[in-house]
Amino acid sequence: MLEGKNVNLRVVEKEDLPQLAEWINDPDFYGEYEPLIQVTRVELEKQYDNLLSEERWFIVEKKDGSSIGGMSHFPEGKLIEIGYTLIPGERGKSYCTEAVKLMIDYLFLSKNIIRVQAPTDPRNISSQRVLEKAGFKKEAIVRKSNVIRGKWRDRALYSILRKEWKEPKILTKTAPG
Ligand SMILES: CC(C)(COP(=O)(O)OP(=O)(O)OC[C@H]1O[C@@H](n2cnc3c(N)ncnc32)[C@H](O)[C@@H]1OP(=O)(O)O)[C@@H](O)C(=O)NCCC(=O)NCCS
Repeated sequence: MLEGKNVNLRVVEKEDLPQLAEWINDPDFYGEYEPLIQVTRVELEKQYDNLLSEERWFIVEKKDGSSIGGMSHFPEGKLIEIGYTLIPGERGKSYCTEAVKLMIDYLFLSKNIIRVQAPTDPRNISSQRVLEKAGFKKEAIVRKSNVIRGKWRDRALYSILRKEWKEPKILTKTAPG
């Protein structure tokens, strides 16, 4: 468990997959700036069973233990990328910013990496604010690289380097693995 002040990140267990499938299949979960996905529980289980060693899914939970979203880190070539989504009713409360800071602390404390990146739709203001508040810098526009609602869209690529992170911002305890 990665413990923050208002939210924790805990690794997804098989028992979380029905909840995740329910979220993913609701178009409002990923919203208007992310691809539409419909997935069966069996497909999600197969994906989960075949996760690469550098890939991990987390549940974002509040201090009362309620699950409010998901976050993951996964390989993008030789680099590490993160993704995150909160359920609509829990957005705009700074939870995601804290969860991203926790994840960055964890990644730089546990892995021999010098950068973490995150792509987002340039129209997705709240996602870009989250990244900026967590210390990321916008570095590029990756042109026509994502299909959203049937249209090819640009993505803004953000990154944070180890030298910009410097020291843990939030994380007080790190889980093994
Ligand atoms: C993106 C997402 C995770 C952000 O979560 P969140 O909990 O709302 O984020 P936070 O509350 O930590 O921060 C949001 C920031 O964006 C700001 N913001 C939101 N909409 C804004 C707008 N239209 N204009 C300006 N600022 C805006 C908020 O004010 C806040 O900044 P502040 O703390 O400086 O006031 C959430 O909106 C979500 O799950 N969206 C759907 C899926 C998605 O887009 N995932 C990201 C894929 S890259």
